[in-house]
This record gives sequence, C-alpha cells and structure tokens, in this order.
Amino acid sequence: MSGYIHELKELIKKVEATRPSRLESARKNEHFPALSMEDRMKWLSSYHPDFKDEGRRKVKVGPNKGDVLPEEVVDVFESRSRLDLKEVNLDNVDFETDVLVIGGGGAGTAAALMAESEGKSVIISTKLRHGDANTIMAEGGIQGATQEGDSPHYHYLDVMGGGHFTNSPDLVAALVNDAPLIIDWLEELGMMFNKYADGRLMVRHGGGTCRKRMHSSGDMTGAEIMRVIRDEAKNRKGINVMEFSPAVELILDREGRCAGAVLYNLETREYYVVKAKAVVLATGGFGRLHIQGFATTNHYGATADGLVIAYRAGVKTCFLEATQYHPTGVVYPEQNVGLLITEKVRGLGAQLVNSEGNQFCFPLEPRDVESACIIRECLDIGKGIMTPTGRIGVWLDSPMIDLLHGEGTVKKELPAKYIQFKRYGIDISKEPMLVYPTLHYQNGGLEINEFAETSVPGLFSAGEVSGGIHGKNRLMGNSLLDVLVFGRRAGCRASEYVSGKKSAGSALTLDHVKRFHKELERAGLKDAPTAPILLPDYTPDEVKSRRWEK
Ligand code: FUM
Repeated sequence: MSGYIHELKELIKKVEATRPSRLESARKNEHFPALSMEDRMKWLSSYHPDFKDEGRRKVKVGPNKGDVLPEEVVDVFESRSRLDLKEVNLDNVDFETDVLVIGGGGAGTAAALMAESEGKSVIISTKLRHGDANTIMAEGGIQGATQEGDSPHYHYLDVMGGGHFTNSPDLVAALVNDAPLIIDWLEELGMMFNKYADGRLMVRHGGGTCRKRMHSSGDMTGAEIMRVIRDEAKNRKGINVMEFSPAVELILDREGRCAGAVLYNLETREYYVVKAKAVVLATGGFGRLHIQGFATTNHYGATADGLVIAYRAGVKTCFLEATQYHPTGVVYPEQNVGLLITEKVRGLGAQLVNSEGNQFCFPLEPRDVESACIIRECLDIGKGIMTPTGRIGVWLDSPMIDLLHGEGTVKKELPAKYIQFKRYGIDISKEPMLVYPTLHYQNGGLEINEFAETSVPGLFSAGEVSGGIHGKNRLMGNSLLDVLVFGRRAGCRASEYVSGKKSAGSALTLDHVKRFHKELERAGLKDAPTAPILLPDYTPDEVKSRRWEK
C-alpha cells in the first residue's frame, strides 16, 4: 500500500519510465551538466527568494540602520525589551560564573567544554533542553579534509566559491584549517562515523565540493555529534546547565564590557540575573521567523534571540539579507512539510525530476543555485507537481540509490528518512519523494573575528548566530563544522579573556537597552513589539479571539 494518492501515483509512472535511461547515464558517469557561472547568476537573480524586492525594508535603528533586510528580521530588530527596565534590580545577582554560555546546541556545548578544560566555571543557559537545537537535527554530514588528495586549500576554495567569494577569508581559513582536528576530536569523544570494514572513514560529495569530504553517521550526523559532546559536558564538574532559561537581555558593565545576562525561566516565569566575566552567545538562527513565508527545517527555538540582544548591545550584523533555502524540503505528506531531506540523498545519486519525469538540473549545484532551479521549474516552466493541499514540488528520485549502490542502501544510509516516510506508507527506496525549497539556515549574523570575538569586549559569538564564514551561501556540512570550530575557539578565547580579569566587571547596567529604547522613540517606533520572541506563535487568530471571549 502506497501513501501516495491515486493522482500522484499516476505521475510517478512518468518518473519510472525515464529511470532506466537516467540510471544508464549515471552508471557511465554522464551527469546532467552543471550551470555556467553566468547562468548561475542569472537563475539566482531571477528565481531565488533573496533577490525579490518584496518582503524587505530598511532598518530604522541600531548598528545596521539603513540596511535593507528581510522584514521579519527588521521586526525583531525594531523591538523593545521584554523587561520593565524600572523594575529590574541588577544588584540582586542570582548566579555568578566565569563564563556564561547562552545556547545549548553544538556551538554552546563546544564552547563550554573548552572553557571548562581551562579550569573556568561555566553556566550553559538554554531555552529548551540541553541539546534541543539545530545541531541535533542536522542530517547529512560534516566536512573536513581528512583524505589523501584533499587539503584545507581545496576546502577553502569550495567554501569561498559556494559563498560567491563574499565570505570573510580569515574566518574561512579558521574553519577549514581546524576541520581535520575537529574530526579527530569527535572520534576521540566516541563519535561513530560511517566507516569501511577496514576502519577508514567513509566520505562523500556534497553540493559545490570538488573532493569527497563529507563525514557522516547515517542521516543522523548532528544527533551523533550532540550525543558525544553533551555526554562529555554532563561529565564535567565545572559545567552547570540551566534548561528552559533563555537570555532576554545582555548585561554590560560601566566600561561597556559584557558582564552577564538576564535569563527568563520559562517554567516559573521568573527572571534571573547572571553575572559573568565573559559571555558566549550561541543561540542559533532565525528559521522560525519564516522569512518570505517559507516552511522551515529548524527547531522551535530558532527565533533569532541572540541577534536581537547583541544588536541592542551594539554588535553589527552582516549578510542577514541572505537566507538559505535548502533545495529539498518535504511537501508531501502534509505532516512532514518543511522537514529536511538531506543533501546526502542527492550525494548518493538521487536525481531531481519534473512532472514529465525529466531531469532539469545538476543535482549537486550549490544550495542557492539548486533551489533557484527548482523554483524556476515549478513557477516559471510549469513542470512542478501539485499536492492535494495545493503545495508545489518536484520529484526526488530516491529509488535510484538502491539501484546504483545495491538493495538496502537507503535503509542503511538514510535510516531516519526511511522511517519518517514509512510512517505515512511511503517506501522511499521504491517511490520518489516530493520536495521544494525550505528555509534552512541563517547565512549571516553577528560580525566576529577568527577568535569568535564580537565588537563588545567580553562577548563572544559562535555558530549560526554569527555571520561572515559562509558569506551569502553556505555549503552542506560546513555548519556542523562551523559550530564546533567557532564554539571551541569562543570557549578558548573567553577563557583567556577571563584569566586576565579579576572580577566580572564593575557596576552592572542595562543602559544600552535604555538608549536603544530612546532611539526607537526618536525613529517613531515608541510602541514597537517586544523581542526576543522566544517561541513562535502558531495559534490561529480565530482561536486567539475565542480564547479571550470566555
Ligand atoms: O542536507 C543536509 O544534510 C544538511 C546539511 C547542512 O545543512 O549542512
């Protein structure tokens, strides 16, 4: 029994009809040609959502005043504090620590481990549970030049090319040079990478890579990384974790150094003042702001909190005009909409196919280009496939994987995907998937240097909340790498910074927030909404109004 409705099953016959000839070409290594650089730019500017004029506006306040950004980002930048500033008493310090790490995903946990290794006391404050973040949801892999014939030089060129040469060279150099060390570190921590029988690491291509350097653990690579680093953190005496406690404001001292944060306990609804000698922001991205109305692969806490509070403290952002839409998000069945279909599926040989069963693009273009190709095929060429709920998508012909690599490969290499679809009666080793781009990643973020330092002394930033590493477009497998490289660097640098200080700042203040409120008033935004929003609100308006009628 297939989970596809009759009309879709009929369309699948066209995919099956062209499969034998596509398979034959694939076996001969004859691939659909990649786009020329000129066509890439043409496709991007015509079809990629980043190039649309609608849905953007100028920011009126703060360090990026005058920049044109997605309006969902501008909304949270042009916002007031959740705190009643007259009520907050910063003299009542609830907790004190050397390093406060805000965010309990890959970057935050890596930062905490490094700072603790240097003998520092660490608090990790996390909005949800420790580990409940985009890292744990990452599927396809982590890049690192560990193989003969590859080197950080090639990796560097791929990262720069993927980002259209807009990336910060120093940050890219840090990323690729640390990468082999990160793979070793994960192995030491007990991570179970996919390996050959003789123990060699298995590596594959990702979109935009000139060498095979994607290391994975099935299609649950992020979960496996989080498993080992979270276990390690749990075993460290110097790390305390405060769950369900997102930061709602950074605290500075009179000298303008970062000296802690105000946390909000989601369960008790109390605010806590945490005084720290250094702060690492590792709050992740903005997927749950649903830029341009796109569905997202992100976890529920991805609401740009770190961006908002650092922006108020004066940290400039970069590349926030560039949003990453992963080419292959689920559009059918409806229960899975927006979920990620890892790029590894295409790395294993699955092809993108239109309503007539024909391939229409090289399957491993950089992500922004691949997404633009799919949007073009659906909205311009008119060869997309409509779902019963009115969504549009193209086929991702996953049955090619078993045919190319042997029966059982899908189940072995993509166990999570297999189960996710099987639950709804679809066997992806036998039937293709319906996909369309989904909001996956915040390409830009807070400006940092290669030591993860921001412009505010004592404030460090790592992972998706930071920008510049990937420029305007990130390649697959460089996010899991980024969180660990810059998480570790942030932890080490924060620890060095703390070693040079006796106490956590002089008098604590929220004056920067007061100044920001004044700027809002001058810009005519006195009644701006509050942020960070902490969690997305999916309650339909009619339900909200019903609630208030009672
Ligand atoms: O396609 C994927 O597995 C996603 C990986 C990534 O964003 O790095």
